[in-house]
Amino acid sequence: MLLGELTPSWKGRLRRRVQAWYGRHARDLPWRRQPNPYRVWVSEIMLQQTQVATVQAYFARFLAAFPTVYDLAEADEGQVLRMWEGLGYYRRARQMHAASRMIVDQWGGQFRTDVQELQQLPGVGRYTAGAIGSLAMGLREPILEANTIRLLSRLVGYREDPRKGAGQRLLWQTARDILPRKQVAAFNQGLMEIGSLVCTPSSPHCGQCPVATLCAAQIHELQTKIPRPKPKQTFTELREAAVVVRKQGRVLLRRCADGQRWAGLWDFPRFEIDSRRAPKLQWELTEKVQQQTGIQIEPGRLLQTIRHDVTRYRITLDCYEARCLGGRLHRTADKSLRWVSAVELNTFALSTTGRKLARLAVNQLTG
Ligand code: ADE
Repeated sequence: MLLGELTPSWKGRLRRRVQAWYGRHARDLPWRRQPNPYRVWVSEIMLQQTQVATVQAYFARFLAAFPTVYDLAEADEGQVLRMWEGLGYYRRARQMHAASRMIVDQWGGQFRTDVQELQQLPGVGRYTAGAIGSLAMGLREPILEANTIRLLSRLVGYREDPRKGAGQRLLWQTARDILPRKQVAAFNQGLMEIGSLVCTPSSPHCGQCPVATLCAAQIHELQTKIPRPKPKQTFTELREAAVVVRKQGRVLLRRCADGQRWAGLWDFPRFEIDSRRAPKLQWELTEKVQQQTGIQIEPGRLLQTIRHDVTRYRITLDCYEARCLGGRLHRTADKSLRWVSAVELNTFALSTTGRKLARLAVNQLTG
């Protein structure tokens, strides 16, 4: 069947096979035990851009720090970001924190049992609302995320881009159309589990797939053509510098402002650089640290060069040491510039490269 109507018999077989397979093959993942709305919400937000293996450790730590939505709402944003450090896409954590306050302040600490209402929460879209509703509340609601987009595109033989408007409409409609009357949680989890373990992006394991004989892509040997690959990401090269400015055993940190990369996290003074060599480079470092912080420095040696990618940027980051010569920190309402000791560095949420640099800076202080 290639994009034909989904017949009642096809849907019946699909439901039975997915549920039976999930019963036998489900991984024992922490958020599947006691799947209450809070645990499902936290796990699904973490899983949006991050692998299951990475999420497991973060999930356990996060739940230990904030066992309920009340604990999350009471925490300050810095603590939440510190728990999220290393997971990336930090907007997710800030939005979750804002959402927890909305749940506590406006909903009396209870999640709404309507997926439209759940979508009023910051960071909760159709998918997360469907996951909370179906996995934690037993609501008959569809889900569609990376794994199920791939699985359903193949099952129905959808050859266009499944991430575009028409593809999304068709796949959401399909995800709703195939829902069983009962045990929706096991069915939706089963779809995701087949998508992630069997119906993998390259070389799917069709020989082990419980729904292979129902799958248009497998019948027509289109598994490698579906889903249509994303257009290739083109990278822009950037050269940046980060500077560890020292003063009496402390280092200078700045909090990234809203709208900047890593908004809400702390970082060393960091900026783009044009110059390659002394003395122009030293002049540029001095000038830009002064602009960003108000502090005059004497640049020192290059500590390390780190290459890393952020969204569409391929960044070469040169990390320098510097000595504080004087000057005054720019005054900011939220004290977003601070001198921080080696011990205190542990309590600040830093970007991944910021943390690497912090370790290096501390080793040099104490080593
Ligand atoms: N990816 C996103 N959500 C998931 C879930 N609940 N189980 C496994 N993989 C997932």
